[in-house]
This record gives sequence, structure tokens and C-alpha cells, in this order.
Amino acid sequence: MRIGSGMMRVGGLVLFVVGLAFGAGAQGTQTGAASWAASTQPRTAARPTAAAAPRSAAIRAVVAATPPMGWNSWNFFAGKVTDKDIRDTADLLVSTGMRDAGYVYVNIDDTWEGARDANGKIQSNEKFPDMKALADYVHSKGLKLGIYSSPGAKTCARFEGSLGHEEQDAATYAEWGIDYLKYDLCSYRTVMQQQAPDDPAAQNKLMREAYEKMHQAIVKTGRPMVYSLCQYGWDSVWEWGPEVGANLWRTTGDISANFDRMSAIGRSQAGLAKFAGPGHWNDPDMLEVGNGKLTLDENRTHMTLWAMLAAPLIAGNNLTEMKPEIAAILMNKEAIAIDQDALGRQGDRVFADGPLEIWAKPLKGGAGHKSAAVAIFNFGETPSEMRKDNLHLKEMGFAGAVTARDVWAGKDLGKITDQYKVTIPKHGVALLVVR
Ligand code: GAL
Repeated sequence: MRIGSGMMRVGGLVLFVVGLAFGAGAQGTQTGAASWAASTQPRTAARPTAAAAPRSAAIRAVVAATPPMGWNSWNFFAGKVTDKDIRDTADLLVSTGMRDAGYVYVNIDDTWEGARDANGKIQSNEKFPDMKALADYVHSKGLKLGIYSSPGAKTCARFEGSLGHEEQDAATYAEWGIDYLKYDLCSYRTVMQQQAPDDPAAQNKLMREAYEKMHQAIVKTGRPMVYSLCQYGWDSVWEWGPEVGANLWRTTGDISANFDRMSAIGRSQAGLAKFAGPGHWNDPDMLEVGNGKLTLDENRTHMTLWAMLAAPLIAGNNLTEMKPEIAAILMNKEAIAIDQDALGRQGDRVFADGPLEIWAKPLKGGAGHKSAAVAIFNFGETPSEMRKDNLHLKEMGFAGAVTARDVWAGKDLGKITDQYKVTIPKHGVALLVVR
């Protein structure tokens, strides 16, 4: 029985067709092989429609050809973040090797904002005495600096927002040397409700215009900045994010450092793959790896899910107390390579049998061979031996046996078939690269 786009129920199992809904007349036995083959072709960046499109598309390709990687202050420091925390983090991104692993953006989230001066120019508050000096410091470490604002009058933490000061703020960010802006809807919702009460279509138009306005303001500065939309995935933002200049857009509400929330967010991304690509990415929120009480398996599952989703990898842990096993997860070269793969394709769910889920992500591969990352997740409460579950390689376009490597085990598996079995612990994952 067909139960949704690209998804069918076979007995008690759910089979997903990667990258494409079933065509007209498709029968229940059809696999996703054809759609997988199509999905491994490189795609061009999102269609440019705005007036400044050619220039903004060029900026997008430069700043986010692969999903942005870095660190953001919110998940651990929240409203307490200071200039010192950012400098310490910059130092640690270098000394731990995270910068060289790809984590180059150091993003200050909400609560840096001070009052505006007599000319309306935004000032940083007492926690950030000199933003230009901080940017210089971060840049001197071979890193980039990100900042946060809102199209509303107030940010979510009720600090100064950019409403009515968009061009001025973008110019100030450029003057400071900012490389990344997260623009969070927050109190702009009030403007939308006041200007278009009970009219969702008109409210959506206002929201898009507000995001486009800041995009144009950034373009006008001439400084490349990653443009990150945060409006919690409302109004199918993935359908119009690229048109307002976004390099990434949040697809969900806030993540938190527990397995249920993290895994629910990750799993909810099924079906969004076709909206992501070089320069424009779905953002299921920043990483909680190393935060809260996530176990080692849960942290690996988190990193794996985000890598499979070609999600921005924005760490959110306190680097001053990062444990070696957390560093090993965040800096696993092969997991990062899956996320950052040059093809720029987001993975999707291929198969589910209760808590056992298999996701696949096409990889660039090499001359004459196709390659994919295959993640076998166990979201359940007891270990899974995959007793009656196969890998579903055929749906990924592989005809017979494949050569495989187990990423977290760091082990070549040689040739494996669709009957491959591995025991997956509770809340754990096996991540394979096959070709
Ligand atoms: C939320 C946003 C969080 C964080 C916070 C700051 O709206 O989703 O990621 O930025 O605001 O106040």
C-alpha cells in the first residue's frame, strides 16, 4: 500500500524510494534504482530569481559550496557568551585540530547586541567590548567570524534586532569583518501578524521580503557572508529559501541535547533531499555532540545523521572541556568527508523496519564507479542484529556485491552482499561507505 510520496508499506516494513516519488503506474514491487541513478547526477545551484541573482548566486557558490562547518555559541553558552569565550573557542578550534578538520566559522549567537548610537549604528554590549578587534583575532587564527540578528525589532532573547536598519547593520558587519549571518525571525512575527492579520499568504510574503531585504543589504556590502535563515522551517522554507539568497535555512524548531529530540529532528528530514545542493542547504539545527547526557553511541548517531543529511556541521559544545572521544567523533575524517562530499547530495531514508532504518547518500565516487554512504540506524531500546533486514543495495543502484568500509570501526570490510549483518547497539549506528 502506498502511504506517502516515495514510501510504500510491504508487510510490516516500510520501503522508501530515494530521491523520487513513484511515477504514475508504479507497482508495489518497484525499487528506487532508477531514481537513485538520476539522483547521483550533479545538479546546478538553485534557480536564481531575484534581481541581483547572478551576483548573489556567485557569492553563494563561493561561501557554501559544501555545507558550512564551524561552531556556534548558543547550544552551550546561550545568553552567557562573552568575547573571552569566543577567543578561547578560536584558540581551541586550532589546537584541537578542529579548524584543520574543516570547522572554520566561529559564530556568535544571540545576546551580543547593545544599543544603537545617535546615528542608529548598532553597538555590541559590554560582553563584547570591541567586535572589530575580536574579528581580527579570529581571522588571525585562520578562522571566520559569524554573527546573529533578527528582521524584527528584537531578537529572540529580546536584544536589539535589525528592523529598519538592515543596510546599516550589514554595512557594520562588513566593517567589523563578519563572514556569516544567522538571521532569526523572532519578533518579526509580530510585524507579520499586525500587518496581515489572519492572512497566512500575505504574512509569508512579508517574511520572504524581510529575508530578501537583508540578503540585498549583504550583497551591497560586497563582502561574502554565509546567509543562514532561522524561521524554524515554517512555510516549507526549503522551497523558497534559495530565492531570498539563503545558503542554509533551518528546517525545524530548536534542537536540544537529548536523544529523543535530536533523533526526531534528524528523522524528520526524510524527503527534503531534493531541496539541498551546493550553495543552499537544509539545516536541521546545530550539533549537540558532546552536550547534555548523550551517550557515545548517541553522539555517533547524531554525527552520522547530520553527515548523511549533508547538514551544516556547526558544533555547539564547550571546547574547553571536550573529551577525546567527543573530539574523535567531531573530527572523524571519513564522516566529515561524507557530509562534505563534492556531489553535494543530501541522503534520504531507503528502508525502515520499526526502529531499524537504513539511509543512503550518493557520493561522488571515482572514475567509472558509483559510491554511496549507507547508515544503518537503530533508534530502538535494544540491540538489533538486523535478523530479517537486508541493506537494500538494489534500491541504491548497486546490482551485486559491493566493496565496503565501516567508518566508525575504521575497518575495510572487503566485499559484502545485501545480506550483510552487523549488530547495532541501542541508539547506535553502523556507517558504511560502499562502492
Ligand atoms: C532561537 C533559535 C536558536 C537561538 C535562539 C537565540 O530562535 O532557534 O537557535 O538562536 O533563538 O535567542
